[in-house]
Amino acid sequence: MQTLQTTSLRVVDNKLWILDQQALPQQKNWLHADSVEALVGHIHALRVRGAPLIGLSASLLLALLGERGLSRKELTHALETLRAARPTAVNLMNNLDRMKEALAQENVAAALEAEAVRLVQEDRELCDRIARAGSQLVKPGSRLLTHCNTGGLATAGVGTALGVIAQAFDEGKVANVWVDETRPLLQGGRLTAWELGELGIPYQLITDSMAASLMAQGLVDAIWVGADRIAANGDVANKIGTYSLAVLAKFHHIPFYVAAPQTTLDPDCPNGAAIPIEQRAPAEVTGVAGSFGAVQWAPENARVYNPAFDVTPAALISGWVLDSGVVTPDDVANGRFKK
Ligand code: MRU
Repeated sequence: MQTLQTTSLRVVDNKLWILDQQALPQQKNWLHADSVEALVGHIHALRVRGAPLIGLSASLLLALLGERGLSRKELTHALETLRAARPTAVNLMNNLDRMKEALAQENVAAALEAEAVRLVQEDRELCDRIARAGSQLVKPGSRLLTHCNTGGLATAGVGTALGVIAQAFDEGKVANVWVDETRPLLQGGRLTAWELGELGIPYQLITDSMAASLMAQGLVDAIWVGADRIAANGDVANKIGTYSLAVLAKFHHIPFYVAAPQTTLDPDCPNGAAIPIEQRAPAEVTGVAGSFGAVQWAPENARVYNPAFDVTPAALISGWVLDSGVVTPDDVANGRFKK
């Protein structure tokens, strides 16, 4: 398979490597992801994460397995196992649907490789288009708030919401970025802070609970987040804590934008209530773990509730910025996300 490199994925000498997003930013470890079990393990542990990246990593691995001569039956089994790796981000299912079509072609290995490479290339282009479309909504001097991580680490390109922020910064319109640390797994504190630093974009890290007070003081001009799935009625599943930000934005009359590629759309899902929400391990809430080790602060037997995502109702969203342009609440009411 051809050599390929994104911020957090590499295909070299017919091997898939992933940049361990749990060790960042303290350590930059590239890990093998050479079997279905290995990649599913990396996805479960969020070493590979972010809606677009999960789908792309699964597609690339499938292409590599095709090249190793696995039978159609074995490849179909691998595809179904990968599809079940995480339930909420629909990009995984959408990408694997495309790979399934390739699996039906006569020259399976060549078709899988071509499709996986196409998906990566397309994702780069989708990110660029989202960045350009979204930047037009950013006013000069903006102080933007973002949640979780939606940058190059989570995609094959410049990212989604973070791509918009970077584009707007390049156009001289961003004064500061407020970065929610994003408990429990700190994608904001570890990954977005790191990416913004690398891009030279001014930011300040805050704990999630500080956002309300910043909005009350008039220190936030707009909120930009990504998405793991957009339902037919415009409801959006994204990292836990996104919904609270949207409610706060409404109360404080602050625009709340969702940036996502077309691979995040799920026209078969009628509304947010039908989106499967991943539940995760209690240890993520009873303490923290990372390249620095693990700390637990809660009592040994503390009972925990740990949903990884929440749903923001369409009524709280000012605009959905897709690769095709800005979708308004009126567009959504007129069935833009329906089949
Ligand atoms: O659990 P994660 O880190 O995979 O969650 C990621 C998010 O919620 C992102 O906002 C979303 O996937 C969009 S990434 C471009």
